[in-house]
Amino acid sequence: MQKLIAPSLLSANFKNLSDDIEIINNSEADWFHIDVMDGVFVPNISFGFPVIKHIKEIARKPLDVHLMITEPDRYIEEFKKIGADILTVHYEACIHLHRSIQSIKHNNMKAGVVLNPHTSVNLLEDIISEVDLVCLMSVNPGFGGQKFIENTYIKISKLKDMIISKNSKSLIEVDGGVDLNNVEKLSKCGTDIFVAGNTVFGSKNPAATIAELKRLSN
Ligand code: DX5
Ligand code: ZN
Repeated sequence: MQKLIAPSLLSANFKNLSDDIEIINNSEADWFHIDVMDGVFVPNISFGFPVIKHIKEIARKPLDVHLMITEPDRYIEEFKKIGADILTVHYEACIHLHRSIQSIKHNNMKAGVVLNPHTSVNLLEDIISEVDLVCLMSVNPGFGGQKFIENTYIKISKLKDMIISKNSKSLIEVDGGVDLNNVEKLSKCGTDIFVAGNTVFGSKNPAATIAELKRLSN
């Protein structure tokens, strides 16, 4: 399978968001990564429904919506309505994760679970065959531009083994600190989807950086 690049709009220029969306539309990127933060689950607040609705109107690639919020179940239907294609919820935020995953699928979105850096992939053993993707946080969620946590490599390999042994079709996404130096190694360990915020939007030529991430990961 082709490896996928999902630029995170968290690092985009909000004064001119439509220009940055157009850059992604015309690039080799595969998805838009949309970070929703509530100021409770993570120590930061990003953006919500009205902004995402406008993003959806001009985005020509799937929206991969990463919910860093408590009680995500309350908003699953609303995220479908405003155009989320992939919806990921945190393991740490879901008391009834199985129910949350079922509800996302029931609303015709791809369902993903996200693990914080300290959360063991072993905890996914009994849900791995139900999810479309697992996102491993390679920084503590809340902010773009943080340093990649090296322990992520071993988590990817463990998760890959679990996916194979359980006959799961789940994809592996890595989110946080992905750059041109680690993308190749991350890919070799088994990552399928690369989220990149600062690396893409902090570069002089975001489209060229996306093309480079794509080349290095494939
Ligand atoms: C962090 C977010 C990430 C973030 C990644 O909480 O989930 O998606 O935007 O940003 P970089 O790639 O700059 O680490
Ligand atoms: Zn994210």
